[in-house]
Amino acid sequence: MKIKVFDNYEELSKNAALEIINQVKSNPESVIGFATGSSPMGLYNELINDYKLNNTSYRNILSFNLDEYFGIDRNHSQSYYHFMHTNLFKHIDIDDKNVNIPSGYTNNVKLECEAYNKKLDKNPIDVQILGIGRNGHIGFNEPGTKFDSVTHQVELDENTRIDNARFFSSLEEVPTQAVTMGIKNILNSKKVILIASGENKADAVYSMINGPVDQSCPASALQMHDNVVVFLDKFAAKKLKKA
Ligand code: GLP
Repeated sequence: MKIKVFDNYEELSKNAALEIINQVKSNPESVIGFATGSSPMGLYNELINDYKLNNTSYRNILSFNLDEYFGIDRNHSQSYYHFMHTNLFKHIDIDDKNVNIPSGYTNNVKLECEAYNKKLDKNPIDVQILGIGRNGHIGFNEPGTKFDSVTHQVELDENTRIDNARFFSSLEEVPTQAVTMGIKNILNSKKVILIASGENKADAVYSMINGPVDQSCPASALQMHDNVVVFLDKFAAKKLKKA
């Protein structure tokens, strides 16, 4: 893993965004894996600014999102579909038909997951963007998830629901389940960039990088991947040993 530590979130976001901008410039038909949550918001703002200034085109990219809440319609204000459209897609020239986000509003979730896996197998991700949960989750792969898992339906950890309750009007409204790419899908990406900022991520970041490769910290699976770049602010990097 390559670790890059920045003084602040703005610098981190600018540098992480360059990974995507350069990828899309070098291959306009790139396959990009997107993430939700607050961590990649700065990166998305940088992509939007760059698009306005330099016209970097996303017209021919294919996108896959990591996850989606189960049981809420895609037009729900907290669906990840809505998040991606509001915070990125509607501001750039991505083609809607090239956007893939698992549906959490289906009566045949098994079929939905199988179709998502097939599409991912056919179109390997060039760069996957990741955040990390305080419990070390990636996507919605909670501690205990098998490393050979593919897209599946999951039960959310109570702590994850509590962390995400800030986006809802109450904890009761936070869905209890989600659909997520599995760890194997994530490891199949050619490159992974992971973003973490703030002291509340310092323990998870430490376990991901210095802890044992173990299901108790899903992000530790990334130690098995040979092309991972971790973008941290100095607060999230606090527990790492100085090089
Ligand atoms: C959420 C998402 C993850 C995200 C993580 C951290 O539950 N499913 O993809 O990386 O939690 O979120 P945040 O970036 O808001 O701290």
